[in-house]
Amino acid sequence: MSVPARAANEIKDASANRPRVSPDRESGRALHADAEAPRGSAPAGPPKRAPIPPGVFFFGSVFEGWRDPLGLFLRGRAQYGDAVQYRFGWYRYFLFNDPAAIKHVLTDNARNYTKSRNYQGLKVIFGNGLLTSEGEFWKRQRRLSQPAFHRDRLVGFANTMASETNRMLARWQHLPRSSDGHAPVLDVHAEMMRLTFAIVGQTLFTTDVDGDSSAIGEALQYSLEWANDYAESIVRVPPWVPTPRNAGFKKAVRTIDDLFTRIIDERRRSGSDGDDLLGMLMSARGDDGKERMTERQLRDEVLTLVLAGHETTANLLAFTFHLLSCHPEWERRVVAEVRQVIGEREIRFEDVRRLEITRMVLEEALRLYPPAWTFERQAVEDDVVAGYAVPKGSIVGISPYSLHRHPGLWENPEGFDPERFTPERKEARNKYAYLPFGGGPRTCIGNAFAMMEAQIILAKVLRDHTLARVPARPLELSPLITLRPKHGIWVEVGGR
Ligand code: HEM
Repeated sequence: MSVPARAANEIKDASANRPRVSPDRESGRALHADAEAPRGSAPAGPPKRAPIPPGVFFFGSVFEGWRDPLGLFLRGRAQYGDAVQYRFGWYRYFLFNDPAAIKHVLTDNARNYTKSRNYQGLKVIFGNGLLTSEGEFWKRQRRLSQPAFHRDRLVGFANTMASETNRMLARWQHLPRSSDGHAPVLDVHAEMMRLTFAIVGQTLFTTDVDGDSSAIGEALQYSLEWANDYAESIVRVPPWVPTPRNAGFKKAVRTIDDLFTRIIDERRRSGSDGDDLLGMLMSARGDDGKERMTERQLRDEVLTLVLAGHETTANLLAFTFHLLSCHPEWERRVVAEVRQVIGEREIRFEDVRRLEITRMVLEEALRLYPPAWTFERQAVEDDVVAGYAVPKGSIVGISPYSLHRHPGLWENPEGFDPERFTPERKEARNKYAYLPFGGGPRTCIGNAFAMMEAQIILAKVLRDHTLARVPARPLELSPLITLRPKHGIWVEVGGR
């Protein structure tokens, strides 16, 4: 069990005193119906102040947040309830774990919220791409990018996902056995990073980036760590100050930039925009029908999609392989389903919706280990959220990690139980109780892409291979901008 989960069990859980949901009524709606007052609505009377955990003078919870961010959020929810106000130096940070409050911030009053100051570090890397841009500019870019993710596009992407997985599995055939004759051992997280990177390159940009994956992987790791530290600093050292850390960061961004400049240049030289996402973005015109995207805009969009679109899915798959190696009964169910749906032939787009158990397992993995474990907004004006005052400028945090482990919303929240994701139980649940892909207008554009990709990869790998956990290497979590396994996920690969 992860450190934060252990920490959470050691302390008294304030939410344990609230009405519990029964297994078949595991929904935010049911909880609201049981509770004394409807949470999330604005009750009569003046707004309340959300409880503030005690912390160090001026710094508040900063050090605890650096040491153990997952535990900080789990403990906050357990001790203070669904609205907590952390102090991080001079910043107020509200954490809401109430689906109605979250709906208010992400959807009902979304106009009052921008991406927060915590995205500034990412902005240094992604520039003004879809993830970090705002307002009318974001709206236009989203409209332009959306068609690349439509269903008819996904049909073709399924074939690419399958063939790139084949390429990886063919490589696995040549892995060396250990000196004592044991099956090969590999880090399945690193493998998934390489695979999802190759898939995003082929599907969205029709470019083979497999050869660039290790250099980009390192550069990405360095720059995301830098962005994370930058976001968490109370006093920020701007990237142009010549410190060794900033020099390393600049080098990493240069490596990433070089790849994208190459992709865009190659396309320009080819004389045709092409009909993939890159082509759509290159041929897009402004409202005047003339203006094309600048090189810089193109680079920002391309980079955003590659980075947002591969690491998250790789983390999901790695966590899923880990969970299945701990729950062999579910692994058997996945394999049985895959054999029944696709047998020995190649997987096709139409098969994906029939891989129900596979989907349920992935959705449960996204509940326990959401790669986007937290995301934030910043209040433009004063607001009242679920009866709590949220002053202008405050950061509002939504943490799928703590929301998905809320004992008031989920029966046995720490347990692995894909049955929670049968279509009926999904339908009965408040959709703001489960947010691996976010919610409201800024919801993940790659949601369907990622789920299909994960289903295809999981199905293809498990049909013919066993991935047995290496017990000497337990899972440790690293909550940076995304939640990833700190030292990878090491498995012994065997044939089935
Ligand atoms: C398991 C995989 C994935 C997870 C867990 C995930 C999660 C998320 C979340 C939570 C957000 C919302 C962030 C916020 O509201 O601040 C988001 C946004 C976004 N995601 Fe994903 N994502 C995944 C896969 C992908 C893929 C495959 C792509 C593209 C190929 C992608 C591209 C994006 C983009 C561009 C945004 C920004 C959308 C906007 O603001 O309009 N993601 N993602």
